[in-house]
Amino acid sequence: MTDEEIEEAARVLRKGGLVAFPTETVYGLGADAANAGAVRKVFAAKGRPADHPVIVHVAEASQLKHWAAEVPRAAWILAEKFWPGPLTLVLRRAPHVSDLVTGGQDTVGIRVPGHPLALELLKAFDGGVAAPSANRFGRISPTTAAHVREELGDRISLILDGGPCTVGIESTIVDLSRARAVLLRPGQITPARIAAVLGAEVELPDAAAPRAPGALESHYAPRTPLHLIGAAELPARLAALRGKKIAVLARTEAPSGLRDVQWQAAPRAVAGYAHELYASLRRLDALGCDLILVEAPPAMPEWQGVNDRLARASSA
Ligand code: TXA
Ligand code: MG
Repeated sequence: MTDEEIEEAARVLRKGGLVAFPTETVYGLGADAANAGAVRKVFAAKGRPADHPVIVHVAEASQLKHWAAEVPRAAWILAEKFWPGPLTLVLRRAPHVSDLVTGGQDTVGIRVPGHPLALELLKAFDGGVAAPSANRFGRISPTTAAHVREELGDRISLILDGGPCTVGIESTIVDLSRARAVLLRPGQITPARIAAVLGAEVELPDAAAPRAPGALESHYAPRTPLHLIGAAELPARLAALRGKKIAVLARTEAPSGLRDVQWQAAPRAVAGYAHELYASLRRLDALGCDLILVEAPPAMPEWQGVNDRLARASSA
């Protein structure tokens, strides 16, 4: 990627256009967060409902002061520890922040992404970039530039290619808009790591917590039905489904003698698994099978982000 390409992307943003760009989590579809008309184009391109807030991406933690009405000490502490990185902080919004960005709520989500190209773009643009994941609404998030092209290629003029995203699942979202820290979406950075830095527990959302719409309903889904299944049940399930075209994503190698099964072996460790997850789901989805069976990963804290995405991708 040359400086000219970054400059061109910043120019597109300044003129109110859309730029898809890599982050360490997934590719984002960016617009000038201060330009409501530009942000509206993001919603149109994705087919996304208007009450879904979008995350504002900034180059440095100091920008928190511009986007948030107040920045609690906990926000500075987490920013210092985890930024640039896969963590989004939800804070009370500054009055100038558009309802389109906040989804009409009184909070705003902000993060400094940990990808060199994203940071270069944010620095060149010198402002906040509102960016959801660069997929059609409800579909699997893109982790390569080619995925973005498949999803939105006809709707955006500029896609910055920064290679495959290292993390592979979306950022952890923590709400700090009230007195306590609340987990709105699990990700690579676990509640335990956040709690250790804050010296206070990270709670689960209660009724008064800000809504994180995309994090609540069925989402991140392939078109092929997907079922999550315990490793021990997999052989019997495959036997029962004989005659159907089945795809499997599992952390084990395919048993010998399987026929009509497209087996995708996934990395055993969580980092590798998350890194490959969306690309694997896309590949399996494209095979036109009757069903994708995913062997459920362990129910361990570090797997919470992955298990959350698999549960939302699952149709049963
Ligand atoms: O890793 C990521 O976070 C990626 C990359 C591109 O940065 N972005 C991403 O954006 O996943 P999106 O729009 O696909 O998901 C953002 C989630 C949504 O569930 C949205 O509801 C929630 O963040 N969110 C954003 N602002 C919020 C706010 N003010 N209050 C509560 N939830 C918010
Ligand atoms: Mg998304």
